[in-house]
Amino acid sequence: MQGGYVYLLVLLLLILGSLVSAAIACSTEPANLTTFDVRDFGAISAGGNIDNSEAFLLAWNATCNSESESSTLIVPRRKFLVNPVVFGGPCKPKIINFLILGRLLAPNSPEAWKGLDQSQWLAFKRVSGLKVAGPGRINGRGKGWWDQSCRDHPGLKGCTVLAPTAVKFVSCNNSSIGDVHFVNSSQVHVLIEGCEGIHIENVLIEAPERSPNTDGIHISASRYVFVTNAIIATGDDCVSIGDHTSNIIVSYVKCGPGHGISIGSLGRSGNFVQVENIHVTQVYLQGTTNGARIKTWQAGKGYVRRVTFEHMFFRSVKNPIIIDQNYCSKRGACKELDTGVHISDVSFNNLYGTSSSQAAISLNCSRSVACTGVFLKSIYLRPAIQGQNLTSNCTNAHGIAFGVIQPEPCLQI
Ligand SMILES: *[C@@H]1O[C@H](CO)[C@@H](O)[C@H](O)[C@H]1NC(C)=O
Ligand SMILES: *[C@@H]1O[C@H](CO)[C@@H](O)[C@H](O)[C@H]1NC(C)=O
Ligand SMILES: *[C@@H]1O[C@H](CO)[C@@H](O)[C@H](O)[C@H]1NC(C)=O
Ligand SMILES: *[C@@H]1O[C@H](CO)[C@@H](O)[C@H](O)[C@H]1NC(C)=O
Ligand SMILES: *[C@@H]1O[C@H](CO)[C@@H](O)[C@H](O)[C@H]1NC(C)=O
Ligand SMILES: *[C@@H]1O[C@H](CO)[C@@H](O)[C@H](O)[C@H]1NC(C)=O
Ligand SMILES: *[C@@H]1O[C@H](CO)[C@@H](O)[C@H](O)[C@H]1NC(C)=O
Ligand SMILES: *[C@@H]1O[C@H](CO)[C@@H](O)[C@H](O)[C@H]1NC(C)=O
Repeated sequence: MQGGYVYLLVLLLLILGSLVSAAIACSTEPANLTTFDVRDFGAISAGGNIDNSEAFLLAWNATCNSESESSTLIVPRRKFLVNPVVFGGPCKPKIINFLILGRLLAPNSPEAWKGLDQSQWLAFKRVSGLKVAGPGRINGRGKGWWDQSCRDHPGLKGCTVLAPTAVKFVSCNNSSIGDVHFVNSSQVHVLIEGCEGIHIENVLIEAPERSPNTDGIHISASRYVFVTNAIIATGDDCVSIGDHTSNIIVSYVKCGPGHGISIGSLGRSGNFVQVENIHVTQVYLQGTTNGARIKTWQAGKGYVRRVTFEHMFFRSVKNPIIIDQNYCSKRGACKELDTGVHISDVSFNNLYGTSSSQAAISLNCSRSVACTGVFLKSIYLRPAIQGQNLTSNCTNAHGIAFGVIQPEPCLQI
């Protein structure tokens, strides 16, 4: 009997031992997921008064050159001032996490950009598998730039047209930005350029209504970009889509104040525009200047095709539905040309809400390259100001309307 118990005990210990060693084996597995805390490279919070760009670059270098499959740069729960910096690749790990738990602060004054590229603050270049994640905050502290912007201060000596984008992804593939709170960028908050396979989700972007050119998210020369769950309140377009873009989906966005969701402006320099397969859905716009917009310059060539704006709700939006193929920096300042970007197969479907201007639908297309295949479906707009009558204003816009209750559509067959 006794021997039996001892035997059982030994067996039990053996099982326990193998369980423990299995657990240890499991816990050594993630040891290859290397993490690099910026503080270990000399970053000091100091209430956000000391520049940490050197420390961030050292931490980035370690993260980017790590031998592990996946490595992580950590910005801990503090405030860090970071001067303009480029985080370059390619990197060795397949996955690079840039984890922002704390706050990143841009320099307070444009002075910090002396001798540097004024188009950017934090730039990620040629990195694939990059995941910039929160829940931290990225504060562009743009006031110094806004105060010297040529748009708002045209008479100011030394005024600037270009100001830094807060976060740029340039030539990055299969990357993402998630759970980040952006505030007060000097210009664009997030720019995606020359990338393929980008997810932007759960972002909050906030800048004053009157801040110049502070687009929320700008996408250019990129394919397969997905923006979802974004709350954007800013001084320019909430989301803008530039040239050489395709397969873009923008969904679940709340926009306002701001200039709405825009494709363009395109073709300014007479270039050959290529924009296709753009899908904008589930958008709520409040007090914006535009809702669903496409704008092209007469000088441009090429195409914008297969665009869908659907399931959008407008609350007191100035131009809920607008195509302007005669876009110009000033009305009437551009002379009539016989070129134009061909806009085709654009559908506006299931759009509701209120318009604060009379021309709720404005399709101002080119005389030489008319808009074709415009589809207006299930639209019911009401005036934001009681007693006003809403109208559609179409020029050279061809297509069909179905279930448009108000305003009376004006497409030509
Ligand atoms: C960058 O990281 C590599 C690999 O970890 C290291 O050999 C190199 O010294 C680092 N460079 C700098 C400037 O720290
Ligand atoms: C990390 O993982 C990679 C790929 O699984 C492996 O080749 C490498 O030897 C590991 N490095 C370390 C330090 O364990
Ligand atoms: C991204 O993908 C493009 C097209 O597939 C490729 O040319 C480019 O080298 C890739 N960039 C990186 C950083 O891997
Ligand atoms: C992105 O990742 C997918 C899946 O891993 C891969 O098939 C694709 O080639 C990658 N794209 C680029 C441009 O690297
Ligand atoms: C953003 O800028 C505005 C105007 O300068 C300022 O009132 C606001 O407090 C700033 N927001 C943050 C979070 O710093
Ligand atoms: C519609 O366009 C015509 C021609 O440009 C213009 O005169 C008219 O004021 C416009 N109507 C509205 C409501 O904007
Ligand atoms: C269309 O654009 C042209 C050129 O800017 C402008 O003259 C015209 O008034 C616009 N028409 C409407 C209906 O807005
Ligand atoms: C709106 O349209 C109705 C019916 O056509 C007309 O009686 C009314 O005067 C119009 N109101 C305005 C402000 O134009």
